[in-house]
Amino acid sequence: MIGIIAGTGLEEIEDLQARRELRIATPYGPPSGPIRAGELAGVPVAFLTRHGCGHALPPHRINYRANLFALKQAGARRIVAVAAVGGITAGMRPGRLVVPSQLIDYTWGRDHTFSDGGASAVMHVDFTDPYCEPTRAVLLDAALAAGIDAARDGVYGATQGPRLETAAEITRMERDGCDIVGMTGMPEAALARELGIPYACCAVVANWAAGRSTGPITMETITAALAGGMADVMRLLSRAAPSLHAMS
Ligand code: HPA
Repeated sequence: MIGIIAGTGLEEIEDLQARRELRIATPYGPPSGPIRAGELAGVPVAFLTRHGCGHALPPHRINYRANLFALKQAGARRIVAVAAVGGITAGMRPGRLVVPSQLIDYTWGRDHTFSDGGASAVMHVDFTDPYCEPTRAVLLDAALAAGIDAARDGVYGATQGPRLETAAEITRMERDGCDIVGMTGMPEAALARELGIPYACCAVVANWAAGRSTGPITMETITAALAGGMADVMRLLSRAAPSLHAMS
């Protein structure tokens, strides 16, 4: 099964068929909501909305551990995370898709590991390449085949939120090497690695980041830019699903 974690702007996958709702309890508490199991392009998928019903959970309140654990329980062998981001560097314009290749973590205070003391030995997972390369390759091939312009790599900077960044923070992030900025990329990617689930991200640029946008960044402008980008994400996921399934 392919796990899809959906973020802002992708609360529904219209092409998801034969839904069953799985309510999975975890040792870490409840996930963001029920997992919807179904088929996308004839392939079994487990779909979880990261921010919960009605977008009620802010990024720092998401129970990332429960979400990843529940997806594994549901049978997800590979995860594609969909995320809305701000664009920092040239080319990362609103509406564009990005399949990031690296990340930098600026989040704090989140339950960020399954290796949290207790009975089992501490685990130091290799995180040199935070995203699964073969999964990224399938997503990028699917984008190409579907005629979707997706940036082939980029560094995702994960910030704490829920406020947006200051212009100086974005300038610092750009100096650090970040191309895009979002609030949910971590600890999600690291937890997937700890569970041994190949994980890649399909990001949609919702806005130019702070200090790069011409006007104030509002939820309205974000939502408007996401509408087109998420339609591309749905086309891309439907194209990629059979290949992702064949690899799993
Ligand atoms: N910053 C952080 N997260 C985001 C942004 C942003 O500008 N846009 C969408 N998610």
